Amino acid sequence: MNIDISVKNTKIDYNKDRPIAENPVKVMDLTLRDGHQSLFATRGRTEDMIPVAELMDEVGFWALETWGGATFDTMHRFLNEDPWERIRTLKKYAPKTPFSMLLRAQNLVGYRNYADDVAEAFVERAAANGMDVFRTFDALNDYRNFETVVKGIKKAGKHFQGCICYSMTEPRMGGDVYNLDYYVAKAKELEAMGADSICIKDMAGLMAPYDAFPLFKTLKQAVKLPLHLHSHFTSGMAPMTHLKAIEAGVDIVDTCMSPYAYRTSHPAVEPMVMALLGTNRDTGFDISLLAQINEIFEKDIVPKYRHLLADNKMSIIDINVLLHQTPGGMLSNLVNQLKEMDALDKIDQVYAELPRVRKDLGQIPLVTPTSQIVGIQTVNNVLFDKGDERYKMITDQVKDLCYGLYGKTAVPINPELQQKALKGYPRGEEPITCRPAEVLEPELDKAKEEIKDLAKDIDDVLLYALYPVTGKRFLKWKYGLEPVPPEAKPRTMYDVKAEQKLLAMAKAGKLVEKKEKPPTVMEENLRKFNVLVDGEYFEVEVEDTGGPPNISYVREATPRPAAPPRPAPVSSPPVPSPAKPAETPAVKIPALDAADVSGGTPLIAPMPGMIVGIDKKEGETVSAGETVLILEAMKMENALSAPISGTITKINLGVGDHAAKNDVLCVITP
Ligand code: CO
Repeated sequence: MNIDISVKNTKIDYNKDRPIAENPVKVMDLTLRDGHQSLFATRGRTEDMIPVAELMDEVGFWALETWGGATFDTMHRFLNEDPWERIRTLKKYAPKTPFSMLLRAQNLVGYRNYADDVAEAFVERAAANGMDVFRTFDALNDYRNFETVVKGIKKAGKHFQGCICYSMTEPRMGGDVYNLDYYVAKAKELEAMGADSICIKDMAGLMAPYDAFPLFKTLKQAVKLPLHLHSHFTSGMAPMTHLKAIEAGVDIVDTCMSPYAYRTSHPAVEPMVMALLGTNRDTGFDISLLAQINEIFEKDIVPKYRHLLADNKMSIIDINVLLHQTPGGMLSNLVNQLKEMDALDKIDQVYAELPRVRKDLGQIPLVTPTSQIVGIQTVNNVLFDKGDERYKMITDQVKDLCYGLYGKTAVPINPELQQKALKGYPRGEEPITCRPAEVLEPELDKAKEEIKDLAKDIDDVLLYALYPVTGKRFLKWKYGLEPVPPEAKPRTMYDVKAEQKLLAMAKAGKLVEKKEKPPTVMEENLRKFNVLVDGEYFEVEVEDTGGPPNISYVREATPRPAAPPRPAPVSSPPVPSPAKPAETPAVKIPALDAADVSGGTPLIAPMPGMIVGIDKKEGETVSAGETVLILEAMKMENALSAPISGTITKINLGVGDHAAKNDVLCVITP
């Protein structure tokens, strides 16, 4: 492999017709998947991809990543979009460039291992709908979780790209677990499985340039397959890492169009095109075409999403990643979770606890879903552990991990924790060592039976099988059986312009003057906007009278009141001591009058989330510690158990309902 990348001809042109390089770097564009997933909470809509799709098809990308990861989830949950439809629609606009998806192996596009029948059907349907490259990863790098989906990918005649999740236990590559030998062994495993290419998936942007060079040099010699690098920008190292990987002979790299690049996303494509211009690894891309695409993004698309940027920091680099090695998404999840629980002051304790939890759980890589599993357990430990007792509130997912349901961990799980987690675990107290999906019962027929006529085809059934609660709700929207809530509707450029106008007026001090209507009068067509002025939020109400916006009033948004201290933990095991009335903080109980609680003990939501299961009925008796309902928070299911033994006298919420922190979910009377 020739790694001479000196520039041979300085007069070379920008345009696409320049001589083809000896070994051009191939590029996959991630704008339409990982780009908006990293920067804009995966809220990108298909209608905002169509205006650029045809032009992007002309660039010459190796592939366009258009699907997978969190898109399937957010589309049907928040955007009222059918995820299957996106592939078919985009394919019409970009028929030439292969489409790539991120597949979480046996987790598919969800957060747990699904049964083999669901996995087979899912891959078959993804291929039939237009997916070409299946970038497959397993959070534990346990390739037994690849077996079923790989069979399907091969059967459909599609490209199987096997990932190795890049992980570390030391500040640089090496140590006992994730060293060079580890990556070589994993690459050989993938080659033996019939991979068409290998991707090193650096989800947290941890790979240093001088680790990338020996890594790709060595892998290039160890395996014959094309090598692909996926490195997030988060820490700021990725562009340097790309360059060293290119010098070492990496075949394909991942980038985003510049408006979707950097921060927790990926390096931008344009500087790389210029950096390699005229070398033997010149991409051959037409930089003026890239500029044309960017203009559309900047003008017509990004303004609709800007408000979703996770932070308003000046720096686009997250120094914490260099310090704590946690993926960007995980970090913001942790911060949000602590914020929602009014415990942001505990962030340093969380940072300190995280490596301990990770070590106890077998030094697993931190990537969806393991990053959530480790993150939420860490927060639980910091918030709920008391005295010497550790792991007081163990999540169901940690129990599953301890059972072996996610696969084999890099090093063995702490046996003490494993034993504690599996005490009373429904599948058995003895962990399994087989391929996880072997213990799963088929799920597809059951899903078909449950969803009945609401599903019109197999794609609908799969949507329901993967996401029973939100999938069912989406199908009701899709077939007009339930109205689509306003928050699922797209934000338009009209909305954006109205807000920008308000912002300009607020900055000029012109908004406060027009206090014509008393704020208590809520007109029917009054719309509320939150406007950020010099770092302060203002709540602005605008009456839509058909003409230009008519400002009604503006006032400083009320800061969220500090919540009362948390009640006693409510999960099992261990069984918490019954909450004494004197210790129970005052809680707002909108759905319940005071008389209903008196004499009873409330089961209180320890965190905001959605009810995804209710195991008990009103009138049923429960014993302390028994699971009453399942609250899904931060993508994790938390079994909430009875604080005392008694009769359930009241259940306030149903499956699919949202609970705020401290909401009374049900009342148990001894
Ligand atoms: Co990524």
